[in-house]
Amino acid sequence: MTSLYDFNFSIPGSLIFGPGKRFELNNILGTSPLKILILTGSSWFYRLELDKEFSQILKGNQCRFCRIEKNEPTVESIAGALNEARDFSPDLMIAVGGGSVLDSAKALSGLLTNGGNVLDYLEGIGQNRPIVKPGLTWIAIPTTAGTGSEVSKNAVIKSPVHGVKKSMRSPLIMASHVIVDPELHISASSEVTAYAGLDAIVQLFESYVSKKAQPMTSALVEGCFVHSLSALLSLSLGKNTLENRTIIAYGSLISGIALANAGLGAVHGFASSIGGKFDIPHGQICALFFNPVLEHNRESIGSKLDKLLASAAGGEDPFEWLKKIFTCILSNFRLPLNLSHFSISESDIEEVANKTSGSSMSGNPCSMTLESRCKILKEVFRV
Ligand SMILES: [Fe+2]
Repeated sequence: MTSLYDFNFSIPGSLIFGPGKRFELNNILGTSPLKILILTGSSWFYRLELDKEFSQILKGNQCRFCRIEKNEPTVESIAGALNEARDFSPDLMIAVGGGSVLDSAKALSGLLTNGGNVLDYLEGIGQNRPIVKPGLTWIAIPTTAGTGSEVSKNAVIKSPVHGVKKSMRSPLIMASHVIVDPELHISASSEVTAYAGLDAIVQLFESYVSKKAQPMTSALVEGCFVHSLSALLSLSLGKNTLENRTIIAYGSLISGIALANAGLGAVHGFASSIGGKFDIPHGQICALFFNPVLEHNRESIGSKLDKLLASAAGGEDPFEWLKKIFTCILSNFRLPLNLSHFSISESDIEEVANKTSGSSMSGNPCSMTLESRCKILKEVFRV
């Protein structure tokens, strides 16, 4: 018996996946009327009149909609939503949205039952107060295929005062049920599709090569990585089909399960420190740091890379093949290939490199010195 077969594996109580599955929401609510707080994004949900659709699906319950700001959750945005939630005192929450909405639901779930404010619980910068009571029951319905937040046990919150993004983390705040309905993803903009999809691909890859990878997460990633990459490549070429949306939605779901149980790596380490200081979308940071980090890790991950990609690469070096496909997806979506449009000073580079040392870095397959971190930052920012 090796340590490989010694692990914990957490997933929500139920996963309901497939086109049109949102209409099965009532099946998991029981028959007694409930007070339901529905967390949504700020505009897209209402523009598509999904508020009317969900009101109809949840007919007979007392529902209140709560809009979460479009940008990533902050200490302040969570405080505002918490006031609204405490005022309504719901029996249950349903979060319909992207990673920001789902992460906000996780934080609110813990705060509504454990009390206090979000800073009390944030890793590294807060009071390190533990979450001891099960959070308020909530159902996750992701509307983007990317973050995997619907199945993870941490809410990433930005603290502008501290200039970092940190997690509020506990298995007690995970969603109780997850409904992934790819029909809800089909109208996502090209930019959202790109950044969310690339985040999913990076999460699948980083959890697969993570030092904390375990047999179940590895098997799940092996079952979907190449298909997800291929579906995202098709989407980048304008093939916005329900089939491609469904495949990348599945990849995103698996990426969340894998990261929650196997951790991530240096790309997400950079995303945490840069995202706290600069207003750059998480998916964009992940997309641009993927190839430089892959290069750094190359020696340590060769055999895993062969296993994951050899058949898809068709005789090409899997390492070069993956870099090529990744760059191809970026350019098909017409995304920037570096961050040279952000002016960043030498001292900023050193500050960000110093802060790039959180929990994600501990899963990276090989160590990364401060000098290596500065080198990668300079490469991506073109300093
Ligand atoms: Fe991510």
